[in-house]
Amino acid sequence: MPAMHQVLQGLLEIRPHTLHLCTMETHIATDLVEALALLKAGKLVAIPTETVYGLAANALDADAVIHIFETKNRPHFDPLIVHVADANQVKEVATHISDDAYRLMEVLWPGPLTIVLPKHERVPHIVTSGLDTVGVRMPNHTLTLELLRALPFPLAAPSANPFGYISPTSALHVAEQLGDRIPFILDGGECTIGVESTIIDCSQETPTILRLGGTAVETIEEIIGPVKVNAISTSSPQAPGMLHSHYAPRKPLRVGNIHDLLHDYGSDVSILSFKDSFHNFRNIRLSETGDLHEAARNLFAAMRKLDADSHGVILAEFVPDYGLGRAINDRLKRASTR
Ligand code: TXA
Ligand code: MG
Repeated sequence: MPAMHQVLQGLLEIRPHTLHLCTMETHIATDLVEALALLKAGKLVAIPTETVYGLAANALDADAVIHIFETKNRPHFDPLIVHVADANQVKEVATHISDDAYRLMEVLWPGPLTIVLPKHERVPHIVTSGLDTVGVRMPNHTLTLELLRALPFPLAAPSANPFGYISPTSALHVAEQLGDRIPFILDGGECTIGVESTIIDCSQETPTILRLGGTAVETIEEIIGPVKVNAISTSSPQAPGMLHSHYAPRKPLRVGNIHDLLHDYGSDVSILSFKDSFHNFRNIRLSETGDLHEAARNLFAAMRKLDADSHGVILAEFVPDYGLGRAINDRLKRASTR
């Protein structure tokens, strides 16, 4: 039997803009008019960003936002990120913007950085899971920025995957998993960064990184000086999304020295390596040249492919632990936790 993605690919080849799946007709297109109309009517639209695809709704409409949680099977204690068209729009959703937050927005937006700020009462509690702070970001994607500029409200959007699974980095990934549950996927091609945004809490005295991601810690520290990194506090209510098992494939993934792992797990394995090749095995290399940006861009698609093959276990190795490498290693650790 062909894999789900092959079936979908087949359908896409026949009718490039419409998928007919179980319960809903999902359009995959670049049509902003349709996306605008749906969002204004309180519906969900999957949107491309430079990090991963998001599942978006009007951030100021609690009824619309509830659909996001239902569609993703997401627990209500896990807050959503609010996507804005520009730094000005932040004032509509946050009550105070610290000097550090201003500097970061000025230099790094649009880009893969979410800034946590004190929440404006206008933002419904469901968006922030009852927290008095809100995470905001201006994504760096032409189509989505055009959409945000044309809308009279910001967009709440988590990654467009079922809760706990690997985030989608293409429209097809979204269709594979949520295609029957949402009316429209705005197709913005493959994500150029490939891992979720870095999250920094600027609502307190000391800026604290809550999630490692597409903006390197080093880059942030060049702009505002030393920051605390609190990204591994997996059970902290400050960052409910930092749950242990996250970004995880369905089959077991083990991370460590691949030769040692091979010794333990035998031959019914596939291998996710950084740059070395493993000829006798099903193997995906994240970057032949050892480029961490390329590795980040390829990470989630590679995990999906290996999850779909016939081998029992995925063996992976850590990448160098600096720059985007820290975010990649964080995702590998989480993917290996069940
Ligand atoms: O790159 C990204 O950030 C993508 C794209 C779509 O923008 N979005 C994304 O959203 O990764 P999501 O829902 O998968 O992860 C959002 C995480 C939450 O799990 C939570 O940890 C954190 O953001 N978060 C959101 N608001 C927060 C807040 N007020 N305080 C602390 N953490 C917050
Ligand atoms: Mg997510």
